Amino acid sequence: MNRKLVVRLLLDAGMAGLMIVLMGPMITGLPWHEILGTSVLLLFIVHCALNAWWFRSLGKMQKKRNFGTVIKLLMNGILLVNSLLLLVSSMMISHTVFAFLNLSGGGIWTYLHRVSAYTEFILISIHLGLHWRIILNAFRSALRIHGKNPVLTGLGRICSLALAVFGIWASVSRDIAGQYRLPKQTHGEATQSGQADSTTVTAKTQRQAAAVLDQKNVQQNMTAERSFSNIQIEAGETENDFLGRLTCTGCGKHCPLTSPSCGTGASQAQQAAAYYQSQADFASSSSSSAIEESSSEDYSAQSEGETQKPRTQETTETQVQTDTLPALFRDYVPVMGMYAAGSYYLLEFVQYRKKKK
Ligand code: HEM
Ligand code: HEM
Repeated sequence: MNRKLVVRLLLDAGMAGLMIVLMGPMITGLPWHEILGTSVLLLFIVHCALNAWWFRSLGKMQKKRNFGTVIKLLMNGILLVNSLLLLVSSMMISHTVFAFLNLSGGGIWTYLHRVSAYTEFILISIHLGLHWRIILNAFRSALRIHGKNPVLTGLGRICSLALAVFGIWASVSRDIAGQYRLPKQTHGEATQSGQADSTTVTAKTQRQAAAVLDQKNVQQNMTAERSFSNIQIEAGETENDFLGRLTCTGCGKHCPLTSPSCGTGASQAQQAAAYYQSQADFASSSSSSAIEESSSEDYSAQSEGETQKPRTQETTETQVQTDTLPALFRDYVPVMGMYAAGSYYLLEFVQYRKKKK
C-alpha cells in the first residue's frame, strides 16, 4: 500500500480518536482539554496541507461536477468555516493555552464553543463517511482482498445498522440536540410552562448540567462557595422559581441561576438547588411524618441506630454522572459511525443510481 496514504490515514485515525476525547472535557480536565484541542486544530492544518492538491484543483472542479464532488466541496467549505469558529471561540474562553491573550470572552463564547464543537464532531463524521471508500480500499489492499466479497459486504451492512441504532440511542442519552439550546431559551421555556412536570424536568436537566460543569470547575479549583441559608423559600415556590429569582454573583453580569453562563454560575445553581431540595424535604418530612414513619426504610434504619443519609445528598450524588473515557468512546463511536455510514451509503446509492441510468 502507498506509504503516504498510510501516514495520512493514521493521522486521520488519530484526529478522529482525539475528537472523541475532546467531547468529554471533564474527563481530561480543562488544561489537558485545551492542550489536546489546540493540538487537534494544528493537526487539521497539517491534514489540509497533506491534501493541498484538493485546494489547488478547486478551479478545475467545474468540469467534473457531480453529486460526489459537489457534496464534498460543500462539506469541506462548511467544515473549514466551523473549524475557524471553533478556533476563535477556543481562544476567547481559554484559561490556559491562550490565557496570555487575556481575551476572557463571556457566556456567549462558551455557548459558541459548545455549538461549534458539536457541529465539528457531526461534520467530521459526515466527512469521514464521504471518504470511507478510500479507507475501505486501503484495508482491502492491506488484507489483499480482490474483487467483491459478499460476506464482507454483508458484515459491513450489519455493522452499519448496529452503529445507526446505537448511534441514535447515544445521541438521545447524551442529549446532543439539547447542546444547541440557547441558555436563555431554557430559562424562557421553564418560566412559560406552568406545568409541574415540565418544570421539574427542566430543573433536573439544569441541575445535571450544573453538576457536570461544577465537576469541571472542581478540577479547575474555581468552585464558588455560596450560602443560601438566609434566603427564604416562599410558599408554593417551585425549585425553578426559586432559582429564577437568584442571580449569579460570579461577575457583574448577574445571570439568573436558571440559566448560568459560566462555571461559577453553574456551581452556584447547583448549591441553590441542593438548598431548595433540603428545605423542601425538611418541610415534607415534618408535615407527613406519620405516613412516612409507617413505610419508609429510612426511618427503620434510623430506629436501628444508623445515621440517616440526607436525601439531598443522595439526590445530588445520583445527579453527578461521572463520565469515563470508555463510556465516552462507547457513546461517541456509534454517533460518529451513524453519520459516517449514513453519508457513505447515501453517496453509494446516488452513484449506483447514476450508473444504472
Ligand atoms: C476540536 C477541538 C475542540 C473540541 C471538539 C472541544 C469540545 C468541547 C466541549 C464539547 C466542551 C463542553 C461544552 C459544554 O458542555 O458546555 C468544551 C468546553 C471547553 N473547551 Fe473545548 N473543544 C475543543 C478545543 C478547545 C480549545 C483549543 C480550547 C482552548 C484553548 C478549549 C477550551 C474549552 C474550555 C475552557 C471549555 C469549558 C467551557 C465552560 O463550560 O466553561 N477547547 N470543549
Ligand atoms: C478528525 C478530523 C478529520 C478526519 C478524520 C478527516 C478524514 C479525512 C479522510 C479519511 C480523507 C481522505 C484521505 C486523506 O486524504 O487523508 C480526508 C480528506 C480531506 N479532508 Fe479531512 N478529515 C478531518 C478533518 C478535516 C478538516 C477540519 C478539514 C478542513 C476543511 C478537512 C479537509 C479535507 C480535504 C480538503 C480533503 C481532501 C479532499 C476531499 O477529497 O475531500 N478535513 N479527510
